[in-house]
Amino acid sequence: MKLSNSLTLPCGSILPNRLAKSAMSENMAKKGNIPGPEFYNAYKLWVQGETGLIITGNVMIDSRYKGEPNNVVIEQGLDNKQELKNWSQVTKGGPLHLWVQLNHPGKQTPKFLTKEPVAPSAISLAPPLDRMFNCPKELSEQEILEIIDRFAFASKVSKECGFQGVQIHGAHGYLVSQFLSSSHNKREDQWGGSIKNRMRFVTEVYKAIRKEVGPKFPIGIKLNSADFNKGGFTHEESILVAKALSTLGIDLIEISGGSYEKPVMTGIPIKDSTKKREAYFLEYARDIKKVVQCPIMVTGGFRTGRFMNEALLNNELDLVGLARPLCLNPNFSKQLLNGELIESQVHPLTSGFKMLDKLFPLEIIWYTMQIKRMGKGKMPNPNANVYSAILKTVFETGMESIKRVR
Ligand SMILES: Cc1cc2nc3c(=O)[nH]c(=O)nc-3n(C[C@H](O)[C@H](O)[C@H](O)COP(=O)(O)O)c2cc1C
Repeated sequence: MKLSNSLTLPCGSILPNRLAKSAMSENMAKKGNIPGPEFYNAYKLWVQGETGLIITGNVMIDSRYKGEPNNVVIEQGLDNKQELKNWSQVTKGGPLHLWVQLNHPGKQTPKFLTKEPVAPSAISLAPPLDRMFNCPKELSEQEILEIIDRFAFASKVSKECGFQGVQIHGAHGYLVSQFLSSSHNKREDQWGGSIKNRMRFVTEVYKAIRKEVGPKFPIGIKLNSADFNKGGFTHEESILVAKALSTLGIDLIEISGGSYEKPVMTGIPIKDSTKKREAYFLEYARDIKKVVQCPIMVTGGFRTGRFMNEALLNNELDLVGLARPLCLNPNFSKQLLNGELIESQVHPLTSGFKMLDKLFPLEIIWYTMQIKRMGKGKMPNPNANVYSAILKTVFETGMESIKRVR
């Protein structure tokens, strides 16, 4: 098996190679949550880089609840179809795929954006995050059903506008992940309690989307291998959820991990053995791969062509997920596909001051700055200074918006 081999998904769609761009929030929508020409410019660079599957940054399904001020939103009554079509046209209909990542943040929407967030239960994020995020209101059953409809509606619009698939954001502590976690979901009705009940929300979201887009349209999910938080979603539960979704017919499961409370997704080592190996979640993904029929994508930490090839050859995954490496070098996939045994230049970012590193989510703001550069049609600047990212973010969105983690 090689990185250049195609992959046929359960729905029959074919991905042209084994490399995928994982979602990275662009946070550059125009007023009214509209994706302007900057989106086309940035994604054009990724399309030129030949990554087989390109997943958009998270697109929100409800403009009342956003993760960041400038997220794209798809919801009823919002007239941004033409702009979405312009964006999807970047792949010119294939063979590369562009999928929309759909998300509802639940309680992970900052105070300055949402006064009263919603969640499965009225439980705040743990300190010190409770200072930046308001305590959520518990969702009523009617509201849960409405959110499920919103996921289905946004998927229908994504298909109509020419995207080749959708991905449910089921990871990183957002709403789907909150339903799955026994520390965030304390409901006593059919949406909480046992893992069977806690996974009802995500399985209903999947079924509603499938009903709307039909059997031939790819639907994926980004799922935590675990929350890595005491009392949260466990690895054993993640295996059960993956199995259930695979049985229902999902086309792709991307494995990640963590949440705002435990942000391991961008590389805080989980175990010593992970430090030595490249990919943070590979050993967890291996357990999941054993029990599902659908392909598995793993994201987080892949840096060398040698290691990616090895993981693929060993059948540890079906798709290699890349985020920051493609933000530093949008042509990274093309070089890997040409057989170059290259290594990504991604390295841990620091301002040189521990206190500043704690205050600012450098991994997010520095890479977001690179995406915005790409939005202007420019190649990323790997030598850009972290201070310019801090200043630009404060200048553009104000101090409040950077006090958060992903
Ligand atoms: C700037 C930035 C924005 C991100 N936005 C999202 C997002 O919208 N949705 C998501 O699922 N993950 C998001 N992530 C996480 C990445 O998809 C990925 O899981 C993580 O960066 C680890 O992969 P890497 O080591 O290849 O960068 C983001 C990461 C970065 C750096």
